[in-house]
Amino acid sequence: MDLGSDTRAPDQHPEPSQQGGIDMHQKASSPPARHILSRAMLDTLFDTELRVRRANETHLGYPYNLGIVPRVPTSLGAYLINNLGDPYAGSHYAAEVCALEREAIAWLSQVWGGADMDLYAGSIGASGTEGNIWGLYLGREALPTAILLHGADAHYSIPKAARIQRIDSRMLRSTPQGEIDLDDLAFVLDDLGGRPVILALTCGTTMKGAHDDIAGAIRVLDAAGYGPDRRYIHLDGALNAMVVPFLSAAPAAIRPDFGLGIDSISTSGHKMIGTPMPCGALICRRTHLDRISRAIAYLRSNDTTLMGSRNGHAVLAIWTRLMAHGVAGYTQDALRCTLRAEDMAAALRDVGVDVLLNPHSLTVVFPEPPEDIQMTYQLPCHMGLAHAIIMPSVTDSLIERFLTDYIRWFRLSGRAQ
Ligand SMILES: Cc1ncc(COP(=O)(O)O)c(C=O)c1O
Repeated sequence: MDLGSDTRAPDQHPEPSQQGGIDMHQKASSPPARHILSRAMLDTLFDTELRVRRANETHLGYPYNLGIVPRVPTSLGAYLINNLGDPYAGSHYAAEVCALEREAIAWLSQVWGGADMDLYAGSIGASGTEGNIWGLYLGREALPTAILLHGADAHYSIPKAARIQRIDSRMLRSTPQGEIDLDDLAFVLDDLGGRPVILALTCGTTMKGAHDDIAGAIRVLDAAGYGPDRRYIHLDGALNAMVVPFLSAAPAAIRPDFGLGIDSISTSGHKMIGTPMPCGALICRRTHLDRISRAIAYLRSNDTTLMGSRNGHAVLAIWTRLMAHGVAGYTQDALRCTLRAEDMAAALRDVGVDVLLNPHSLTVVFPEPPEDIQMTYQLPCHMGLAHAIIMPSVTDSLIERFLTDYIRWFRLSGRAQ
């Protein structure tokens, strides 16, 4: 365990009676507590690291990229780094990394259709969920009477954002593969009597890894008379907005590309990007931020983000990964992971398992296995289905181990033909 420079070896620690906790009877003049950890605390932290490392070794169910290299130098962990306020204005607080935040956002904008940074802007936030809440808020402010339309397979943060903000919403039917059913979209638009819409689309749905047909949805909107002045389109790309752009075979219709007419795109930092803490990014048309921006004298900045204080360490982590791994690294990851997902799906199909693997996706969906397999591999389950997500950190030996366990159960359960 990397203990940093502020700790001593356990045997150099004072007796517990000399430290630990706040002594309420201590006089104000008492010497300050020594900045060292007790043996008990070190043991707890050591056990925690061991538990986390073991959990990582068999993790297959969530879209987390656990092979986090290169990392931000640990010495930066000693500082409070806070990107207060607007990333494009900075603030009075000088220990910030807004320039790196802007660079990371510009990098993502290039990947999402080469958006012109005079017309688009963004920020690094707490998670993909925050990006969804903020994206839908920007939509609500653009079109205050709009109704939110989202697919049945949208992440739960989308209807949650609607509940938090009391935005009316309506769920659209999904295809069996998990995409929004465009016929249902046309039907619902026809039923709305011209009321403006916020349409939430997904690039890589949570359970099935499906990609909504963005270009198709825009065609349906246009055909129903919903031009850009009566619609706001948010794309939730928590996982696959950092996969699809790197796959040359992926069709233009599912690409997270501002050129298609999308108003905002969000992604998670701890998924394909590969940061060691939950975080996310949101990019949108600048006009949407200008509409809600408020000058805050106390900060010497503008209020253009959901959170006031924002995690500068997350910015450092995203920036480090994007700049070091680069387009070449993410392209290699996306190709390698989709190919390995196809191999895994083929191995399951060979023994008769009913598998869903959407094109250009890393999410392999199969019937829910028993509890012991679910727990070992940390597999999310929903309505009788489970999935594995082939992230860059998933090793071939882990896939082999899972296949052995799953196929053994599948055969013993009498499901194999
Ligand atoms: C499609 C989709 N959107 C949003 C999220 C939420 O992202 P975060 O965990 O970064 O809040 C997830 C998480 O898995 C997701 O799959």
